[in-house]
Amino acid sequence: MNFHILTLFPEMVMNGLNTSIIGRAVDRDLLSIEAVNIRDYAFNKHQSVDDYPYGGGAGMLMQAEPVYLAYKAVEDAILKRKREELESVKSGGESKTEDACKNNGNETKLRVVYLSPQGDVFSQEMAEELAQEEDLILLCGHYEGIDERVLEEIVTDYVSIGDYVLTGGELPAMVMVDAVSRLVPGVLHNDVSAEFESFQDNLLEYPQYSRPEEWHGRKVPEVLMSGHHANIEKWRREQSILRTKERRPDLLEKCELTEKEKKWLKNLPK
Ligand code: ADE
Repeated sequence: MNFHILTLFPEMVMNGLNTSIIGRAVDRDLLSIEAVNIRDYAFNKHQSVDDYPYGGGAGMLMQAEPVYLAYKAVEDAILKRKREELESVKSGGESKTEDACKNNGNETKLRVVYLSPQGDVFSQEMAEELAQEEDLILLCGHYEGIDERVLEEIVTDYVSIGDYVLTGGELPAMVMVDAVSRLVPGVLHNDVSAEFESFQDNLLEYPQYSRPEEWHGRKVPEVLMSGHHANIEKWRREQSILRTKERRPDLLEKCELTEKEKKWLKNLPK
């Protein structure tokens, strides 16, 4: 999967994403992350990309044209790559992606996400959906935002990472890249760990323990040392349900419990 981040602060984004699991996935060619500096597409000699808003008001706005040109450069590069992949399929060569063949080579619309507190709130479900894309363009605003006209022209999705206002879209973009990347096959060494974790079926993850068996007088729950896999699974599922009930009762309402589990939950001592 390829992430293309349009930003005024490329180092911030790249420095935040080149370590640990995501950095290793990039080294292993499972992901590519490029940060495109919108300032490189400034059309004046001072390389300024902001201007006063019409109608007055506090702060500056990012102008439409540099954002558009930065987007266009990314779009052109993606379409060129896709065309080359298609050519290689047609000529019988190997193709790196199935994507080139989709839609018989007709260009599918690229997803362009604008990070904004006005967007839909980011969720695991959204991450799962976006992880299906071959390319994802993330547009980071700064100052008081971006001229509305370029947003109307290029943006397909508006995404917020929560109901608070940050100084720019870079941290939200990094959050999204992280959450989406770990769902790309191969990024997590242990493929099952992306499946059985918080928010799977709207349940939170059960508690986990490692050595030593006793720490600060606290013991690892007996059942986990029993080697009895069915009992361990049952205990974990129950812990997940209890945890969700205590910490995120809003999620429990959405989760599918068996009749037996519903009864068990109802009969728990208060
Ligand atoms: N830009 C500023 N605040 C934001 C938020 N909460 N989510 C996404 N983008 C933002």
